[in-house]
Amino acid sequence: MSDPSQTSNPNNLLDHLEYVPFIIWLTGLSGAGKSTVASVLQRQLSSRGRRSYILDGDILRTGINSDLGFSDADRVENIRRTAEIARLLADAGLIVIVALISPFRRERAQARATAGRIPFLEVYVDAPLEHCEKRDPKGLYRRARCGEIAHFTGIDSAYETPEAPDIHLDTYALTADEAAGRILSRIQGTEE
Ligand code: ADX
Repeated sequence: MSDPSQTSNPNNLLDHLEYVPFIIWLTGLSGAGKSTVASVLQRQLSSRGRRSYILDGDILRTGINSDLGFSDADRVENIRRTAEIARLLADAGLIVIVALISPFRRERAQARATAGRIPFLEVYVDAPLEHCEKRDPKGLYRRARCGEIAHFTGIDSAYETPEAPDIHLDTYALTADEAAGRILSRIQGTEE
């Protein structure tokens, strides 16, 4: 397979951009707070004049990824497509915030490789399973425990904890503003 970072893309505007694009890849269990952190970060970026776009698993699964389920193979494809879309949007100059469970280490590493020259931050949105299950904002953990949903991440489908994330957010201890602020500082620090 060709190395995506070596492929010449006629739309690649990287060398002409005023700001550095980023891919911020939020990984963590369902209910850990990925979507919340993503939208707070988007607001913080917007108030600093930076344009961003959120690629959220739940939303992508209603459209481009609506043919995919939750088998390991479908998750791998879900992550692959999302990484490709993130790369395209970042090539256009956006800060792309991905909110995807993305449970597999190998596919997260592949997403980083797909990013090529685009700075990529793997952010572990870490909340204990018991906490996510207690919050259960969509009632999915309850349904998974009753056997109504199979292959639910953390219940009967694996989540491979990041070993060396660029940023580790303990969403149990941090507010969403604080969590997003940590990512923002890293973006700003990298740009200085
Ligand atoms: S991923 O594993 O392929 O990265 P993704 O982030 O796209 O998952 O979708 C996760 C969302 O789908 C969850 O937040 C939840 O709302 C919903 N969902 C439905 N079924 C499952 C399941 N079996 N496991 C995990 N999430 C599920």
